[in-house]
Amino acid sequence: MEVKTSLLDNMIGVGDMVLLEPLSEDSFIENLKKRFDHNEIYTYIGSVVISMNPYKSLPIYTAEKVEEYRNRNFYELSPHIYALADEAYRSLRDQDKDQCILITGESGAGKTEASKFVMSYVAAVCGKGQEVNKVKEQLLQSNPVLEAFGNAKTVRNDNSSRFGKYMDIEFDFKGDPLGGVISNYLLEKSRVVKQPRGERNFHVFYQLLSGASDDMLKKLKLDRDFSKYNYLSLDSATVNGLDDAASFRTVRNAMQIVGFMEDEVQSVLELVAAVLKLGNIEFKPESRVNGFDESRVKDKNDLKEMCELLGIEQSVLERAFSFRTVEAKMEKVSTTLNVAQAYYARDALAKNLYSRLFSWLVNRINESIKAQTKKRKKVMGVLDIYGFEIFEDNSFEQFIINYCNEKLQQIFIELTLREEQEEYVREGIEWTNIEYFNNAIICDLIENNKNGILAMLDEECLRPGTVTDETFLDKLNTVCAEHQHFESRLSKNSKFLTDHSLPHNCFRIQHYAGKVLYRVEGFVDKNNDLLYRDLSQAMYKANHSLIKLLFPEGNPAKVNLKRPPTAGFQFKASVGTLMKNLLTKNPNYIRCIKPNDKKAAHIFTDSLVCHQARYLGLMENVRVRRAGYAFRQAYESCLERYKMLCKQTWPHWRGPAREGVKVLLTDMKVPAEEFAYGRSKIFIRNPRTLFFLEEKRRQCLEDLAALIQKIYRGWKCRTHFLLMKKSQVVVSAWYRRYAQQKKYQNIRCSALVVQSFIRGWKARKLLRELKHKKRCEEAVTTISAYWHGTQARWELRRLKEEARNKHAVSVIWAAWLGTKARRELRCLKHEACSKQAVSVIWACWQGTKVRREYRKFFRANAGKKIYDFTIQRIMQKYFLGLKKTMPSMSPIDKSWPARPYGFLDGTHQELRRAFHLWRCKKYHSQFTEEKKATYEEKLAASELFKDKKALYPSSVGQPFKGDYVEITKNPKYQKLNSLVEDKVLLADVVSKINRANGKGAPRIFLLTKKILVLADQKTGQVKASVPLLDLSSVSVSTQNDGFFALKLKEGAMSAAKGDFLLSSDRLIEIITKLHCTGAASADRNQINIDISDEFLVQFKQDKVCVKFIQGTPKNGNGVSCKRKNNRLLEVSVPSP
Ligand SMILES: Nc1ncnc2c1ncn2[C@@H]1O[C@H](COP(=O)(O)OP(=O)(O)OP(=O)(O)O)[C@@H](O)[C@H]1O
Ligand SMILES: [Mg+2]
Repeated sequence: MEVKTSLLDNMIGVGDMVLLEPLSEDSFIENLKKRFDHNEIYTYIGSVVISMNPYKSLPIYTAEKVEEYRNRNFYELSPHIYALADEAYRSLRDQDKDQCILITGESGAGKTEASKFVMSYVAAVCGKGQEVNKVKEQLLQSNPVLEAFGNAKTVRNDNSSRFGKYMDIEFDFKGDPLGGVISNYLLEKSRVVKQPRGERNFHVFYQLLSGASDDMLKKLKLDRDFSKYNYLSLDSATVNGLDDAASFRTVRNAMQIVGFMEDEVQSVLELVAAVLKLGNIEFKPESRVNGFDESRVKDKNDLKEMCELLGIEQSVLERAFSFRTVEAKMEKVSTTLNVAQAYYARDALAKNLYSRLFSWLVNRINESIKAQTKKRKKVMGVLDIYGFEIFEDNSFEQFIINYCNEKLQQIFIELTLREEQEEYVREGIEWTNIEYFNNAIICDLIENNKNGILAMLDEECLRPGTVTDETFLDKLNTVCAEHQHFESRLSKNSKFLTDHSLPHNCFRIQHYAGKVLYRVEGFVDKNNDLLYRDLSQAMYKANHSLIKLLFPEGNPAKVNLKRPPTAGFQFKASVGTLMKNLLTKNPNYIRCIKPNDKKAAHIFTDSLVCHQARYLGLMENVRVRRAGYAFRQAYESCLERYKMLCKQTWPHWRGPAREGVKVLLTDMKVPAEEFAYGRSKIFIRNPRTLFFLEEKRRQCLEDLAALIQKIYRGWKCRTHFLLMKKSQVVVSAWYRRYAQQKKYQNIRCSALVVQSFIRGWKARKLLRELKHKKRCEEAVTTISAYWHGTQARWELRRLKEEARNKHAVSVIWAAWLGTKARRELRCLKHEACSKQAVSVIWACWQGTKVRREYRKFFRANAGKKIYDFTIQRIMQKYFLGLKKTMPSMSPIDKSWPARPYGFLDGTHQELRRAFHLWRCKKYHSQFTEEKKATYEEKLAASELFKDKKALYPSSVGQPFKGDYVEITKNPKYQKLNSLVEDKVLLADVVSKINRANGKGAPRIFLLTKKILVLADQKTGQVKASVPLLDLSSVSVSTQNDGFFALKLKEGAMSAAKGDFLLSSDRLIEIITKLHCTGAASADRNQINIDISDEFLVQFKQDKVCVKFIQGTPKNGNGVSCKRKNNRLLEVSVPSP
């Protein structure tokens, strides 16, 4: 079941001030404070919502909250702005009543925030769909744009709206949004040129300078530094919690969503920049011969930049700042402006420019958001207009703003009473007259067409002769002196003659919200709002589409000598239209209150709140509401809430709700004068009666709760007891079974034990008998074994004695035989020694004899043999040594081991020569034909360029590869490849030097035996094809550069466009190949190579000299080519 809550449930303080008891100013403020301290910022006075600014973000605007308040009755939940928005939206959608939401309160009270909450709530609950969502998004995104251009930081509010805004949101019959219309009221344009201390200019100036990219600022000729602009106050340039750069991005994004074109955004920003520039234009006096002072622009730079931005001729604007042309009928008189007048003109232009831009923005947004259908629409208007203002120094703007608030208060009173009256009539209840203060008299003082203050001001402004603020005050003093709400020191009313709080140049009005002192200074000027015609004409001449549009009166073809309507007149007219519009709609009120002056959370200044409550007339509002019947409620909800108070209605009433309520109230003995029965509602006169019912309900609820508690407890105990009883039976059954089981198991176990004991005893007895029998058998075996063993040992001992005796005999015999043999050997050895001694002595003797005989022959042959042997040994050593120290097989290796012996000098050199020839032959034999050709080309390059061109040494180490772009493989060049018949000798990317500016363009350079081709590097398309026959010579410089000129024979077909000047890092290879191809061909001469730092190149008809110079280091390390004149191309080459 859905739990129905009510406004009366869980309330902190009283949610609806109508129910406040006792009602006094103190209790009213106390209630607001109590609720504010608990973050309950909304309180009702009947259907009016009071909103306290919490100055902190509260979690009460979430999507869940939106769902909570959706389709709920106004008083069903605790007070919230969503309840009001929902009520308004539902009566618009379901009852087809146009609505308006009037949000009032002083600056910083939270009006703009409240209007945004209302809009976002309506956007969240109304229909969905792609088109509808786009409309919603555009409506919501119009806010950031208007806030950037129309809001500023003031001492009261960091985001104060400096214009009044009324927005009509249009819906179709289903309640889906179709579009909207915004009206703006009186932008505070004086802020553009001057801001009070601690305040800023409009946000957009700071957002543009902080958030625009460097590029954009450069385009707008602006500097990021705020201090460079006279119109921007510096003391509050940055505001805590405001990120201007991020806001700029948001605004641009919002403009895009709303539908601004990119060029429109650019024009708007140009105008903003122009206003900043305008502020920097300063003037100096210059005396003229006729004695008059004339103004001159001091530094023309800002003027120039501004004129460039807006496309205005500088001299025209400069003149407009120095002269003023007055036209009367057919005459034109030109007067000079002095410095003060020039500054006045400048500021007037800035103010007009900005305020017209703002109005244009509103119109442009309207164009985007207007409904696309002509069908009938339902309308919800949201009014967020400046609140009542009482400053120390109040001027024309405050007067106008306060007049607007007077008008709003008037319709508030009228409509509140009207609604109350209508409800009484609707419900068929007698209407009792209510006393209240009607501020129509104050409105009349201001707006009366005959003698109202605005009419007086207009009369004064249009009057011929000297008109000053003082003459205007004099007029007021005579016309309005009798009025009871007008006070002036010099009025006929002597009451104020001695009132020092009322200065002579001021007048005071007793507004419904309090007395306000207005200083008349500036009233006439501001009401006139003059812009010199010269300036509007200068603006019209601008070559800037938007600015032309903003100053249509500058069109000389439409000169209108009639004065434009005054500011006061215009405002009065637009307020009149607004009021008419509001009166046709069903009003919903949000009264915003500011809790403190410090913009701080948690601070509640009683005096400040009390003052606002007073001038907003909140107490009066409560009294009006309570004057008849304080509380009303539909019969159904009343019966639902209080039915427990009466036996007949509790728990169910079967009849109609109205009868039920009647029975209930009669039963409660509520006096008859305390309530009245309407058609659908019960009206309760006094809150006390309601609280009496509430108290009874509370007591009754307590009794009901006790009864429910009692029954519940009884039921709970009984069920518990029954459960216990049932459990006990189950437990005892289970226990008995368990005990019997246990007993049986015990008996069974005992039987088993006895049984096992008997069986064990029997088995042991049998075992013992068996063991005895076995032991007897074992004893017999052991005895017989011992007997057999003894016998065997005896036999063994006998056999061993026998064997020992046999062994002793054989040992003695062997020893005897050994002794005999040794004796015999000794005899034989002695005999042999004697025989050898005899033979040696014989040999010695023979030797001595032979030596004596041959001594003389030996000396004659031995010397030569020793020499030959020695020489042979030395040669052997030399060759073995040479083998180890042989040099490498490289033909260019010049090393050779040192000569070891002087006599081998010749041989050593001959061996070296033979070795070198041999290794050359080896090296030669491994050469292929291709390699040979490459080396021949290298040789040719050396002959051509060695010591002649500085680029040559760097080419020595690079192999000549020929095809560098892989022309056969690259699919891009397939076509080019197919065009060439012969084998490609060289293909590389070169730069073709443009003869006009010396810049290079990449080309494929392709060389075959017969032709050379130049083709586009990207597409491979042939640009030039030159038969080698047409080539007369090639010119190159001596420097370290890749420039070369291909000179063609005069008259040759390919020479039509002249010679080619090319550049390549592989110049050496290209020229050598060209040269070699020429040398190999029989049908043409070899191509000449000119190496010189200056040569002529034929370009079409002209001969141009290409000159190579050594560049200075500041020219950098690259080679650069520049066209110096018609006849000279200069190539700068880095010095070596
Ligand atoms: N319901 C709210 N929740 C949180 N902060 C709020 C709320 N209402 C207002 N504020 C705060 O108070 C500031 C001032 O509110 P807002 O700009 O709506 O005042 P205003 O009544 O429109 O004033 P002005 O007349 O100067 O335009 C806001 O910038 C915001 O910080
Ligand atoms: Mg505002």
